[in-house]
Amino acid sequence: MVHATETLSRRDRNDANLSLYHLLDPDILANPYPLFQRLRETDPVHWDVFLHAWVVTRYADVLEVLHTFSADRTPTPTQLQHLGLSHLGPIAQLMVRQMLFMDAPAHTRLRSLACKAFAPSRVEALRRHIQDIVDRLLDKVLPTGSMDIMSDLAEPLPAIVTAELLGVPLSDVPQLKAWSADFAEMLGNFQHNPDRAGRMLQTVHQMSAYFQKAIEQSREEPREGLLHSFLSTEASGDRLSDEEVIANTIITMVGGQETTTNLIGNGVLTLLRHPHAIEALHDEPGLISSAVEEMLRYESPSQHTARLAPGDCTLGGKTIAKRQAVIAVMAAANRDPERFPEPDRFDITRKDNRHLAFGYAAHFCFGAPLARLEGQIAFETLLRRAPKLQLLPGPLVWRTNLGLRGLNSLRVSFA
Ligand code: HEM
Repeated sequence: MVHATETLSRRDRNDANLSLYHLLDPDILANPYPLFQRLRETDPVHWDVFLHAWVVTRYADVLEVLHTFSADRTPTPTQLQHLGLSHLGPIAQLMVRQMLFMDAPAHTRLRSLACKAFAPSRVEALRRHIQDIVDRLLDKVLPTGSMDIMSDLAEPLPAIVTAELLGVPLSDVPQLKAWSADFAEMLGNFQHNPDRAGRMLQTVHQMSAYFQKAIEQSREEPREGLLHSFLSTEASGDRLSDEEVIANTIITMVGGQETTTNLIGNGVLTLLRHPHAIEALHDEPGLISSAVEEMLRYESPSQHTARLAPGDCTLGGKTIAKRQAVIAVMAAANRDPERFPEPDRFDITRKDNRHLAFGYAAHFCFGAPLARLEGQIAFETLLRRAPKLQLLPGPLVWRTNLGLRGLNSLRVSFA
């Protein structure tokens, strides 16, 4: 009996050690990779009793989850009502229409209409423009001798690009950015925060009203941009409804801003921690695209996502019951030594770098070409125009968004 109790408590201790709730600890948040390594090595398909979800950390298993499990995971308004959370209904109403939370065939329909609207030529057309925006942002700060990478570059660049991509006025950028940050807080965290519910509801209400008005304006006076393309794209007589346009414009806006901001912030920090990589980029600027891929692998801006088991199944020797929640930790898969030799080494010349930072399969990031382009232009221009970039002393504070990994502030000097 004593033996059984001891065993149980050891297991409880082990479970507590491995729980992803430790990401709420600022030290673990600053460097979650040892926790991910412990999970991968000791229990790669782990039942997290605290989150009530399976946590999957090996590359091959994450691939399997993203390929075959259900993305239809956001609660419907009716489900929320049964949970006594009917006041959150308007948020659910919006999210169930977003492609991120759908399976085929509903997802295939939405995604193909959206892809028709977001043609590769639209990204290419933005190239010169992104360069201009980066140059203008740097023109403002270079004479001052120092800058905050986050507030001076990483936040405004994707915010301006996203507004231009959607085709909404640039004067609305601060408002769109604030809504986007609120929505990302909800998307990236496991915990439901009742104190923030009122604000989330207000954000969803205001964003929806804003885009409904933009749709009406676009009908009266079409304005070049994704919003107009979403409205006018048609396939075999099928079109997106206004509600679908609003929901998917919002997910594109949020997806386009918060993650790209973190690619730039996490990337600059990683470069500053690896001066040899900066030297290599000075010597060979052509390495920039492979460097951006390595930044995405090494400090993935989107660390994990969730799915539901489509039926009773086995993964990594564990039996997962139908509709149980599974957290696929891309940031752990991206450091799996079975897939990436010396995974903890930052190597901007890494070959065969098929990381999962943009996800995989049907939900593979819709905006990956744009994110890559923004990252490449931002890093290339920063290193060229501020070749002696240095980290200024001071604590690095990571945002408490557990899924979308990024810094609050990153102060650097040009000396
Ligand atoms: C470095 C920047 C970015 C990262 C790391 C990133 C990451 C991701 C990931 C991991 C997914 C898949 C999530 C899942 O399977 O559950 C995803 C999907 C998505 N991303 Fe991105 N993203 C980035 C930039 C962008 C940009 C610039 C846009 C829009 C212009 C965008 C729009 C979307 C959309 C709409 C989806 C949903 C696709 C679907 O469900 O079919 N993302 N992104």
